[in-house]
Amino acid sequence: MKTAPGVPDIQRSRKEPETRFAVSIGYWDDPYIQHFVRLSKERKAPEINRGYFARVHGISQLMKAFLRKTECHCQVINLGAGMDTAFWMLKDQDLLPSKYFEVDFPMIVTRKLHNIKFKPLLSQPILELHCEDTLHMDGHLLDSKRYAIIGADLRDISELEEKLKKCNMNTQLPTLLVTECVLVYMTPEQSASLIKWAASSFVTAMFVNYEQVNMEDRFGQIMVENLRRRQCDLAGVEPCKSLESQKQRLLSNGWETASAMNMMELYSRLPRTEVSRIESLEFLDELELLEQLMQHYCLCWATKGGSHLGLKDITC
Ligand SMILES: C[S@@+](CC[C@H](N)C(=O)[O-])C[C@H]1O[C@@H](n2cnc3c(N)ncnc32)[C@H](O)[C@@H]1O
Repeated sequence: MKTAPGVPDIQRSRKEPETRFAVSIGYWDDPYIQHFVRLSKERKAPEINRGYFARVHGISQLMKAFLRKTECHCQVINLGAGMDTAFWMLKDQDLLPSKYFEVDFPMIVTRKLHNIKFKPLLSQPILELHCEDTLHMDGHLLDSKRYAIIGADLRDISELEEKLKKCNMNTQLPTLLVTECVLVYMTPEQSASLIKWAASSFVTAMFVNYEQVNMEDRFGQIMVENLRRRQCDLAGVEPCKSLESQKQRLLSNGWETASAMNMMELYSRLPRTEVSRIESLEFLDELELLEQLMQHYCLCWATKGGSHLGLKDITC
């Protein structure tokens, strides 16, 4: 089914094929994504590529700030990680946390593990850091010294916690939790429980969430309708009403500070040299569409504890 004119299909929130395409034409470097995702023949629109660039840049900036503040003596837990490659990218930059966890549905984890197992570029870094005899691995779990990938449903908090603890999650270590286009697939109650669990489980923590915002205006409504027509209901669209509702969800579920920024604002703050570089990669004549699209996605971050580390000062 065709989407309404001018409004990109919201399913583009699954970033893998888009990431692969944007990397292939030079938006940013990621030598790992090609081992998880095939290059699609379909050319992605320049506004989509610029949007992905801002998203990847924003999340990476917050993550690196957290890693630097904690001197990497910390954990990162990516909830709904899909085919994310940050673990491998951080290792290359010497910025790996004490342990990096990824969680997704068992079926997705099985697919990711298959690639890890058969591609030395992906498995070598994990093995190199492991330095123990046994590597715990089954169909939907791999647990090593510095990297774990776990098949679990994020809506079942006790199962999630049990599986993370089995993989030596340490609640005393500063912990960064990331949800990138994930919470919107859960009901507001389910995402609130996950956010609350995250705030109550760790002494010092930061939560980073990327997803839709301004979903109640005309553009937002068309985005939701397009998806509904494709039998994909966004169960969690309600907290995506505004930047304020996004922040409130974090503050009312145990987080002490919360900030939120729409992606157009973030784009306007990107380093000018980088913006000139990516804007010269492809011609864009639909500037208005880029702006509308970017105003309907946001990056939110929240902190708890960590005043001695300066977590509250982290910003995009
Ligand atoms: C749109 S994709 C985003 C993937 C990745 N975070 C990224 O930005 O590329 C959403 C991911 O969340 C996962 N997900 C959604 N709901 C989930 C749940 N209840 N439990 C575990 N994973 C979930 C999906 O399987 C999928 O990999």
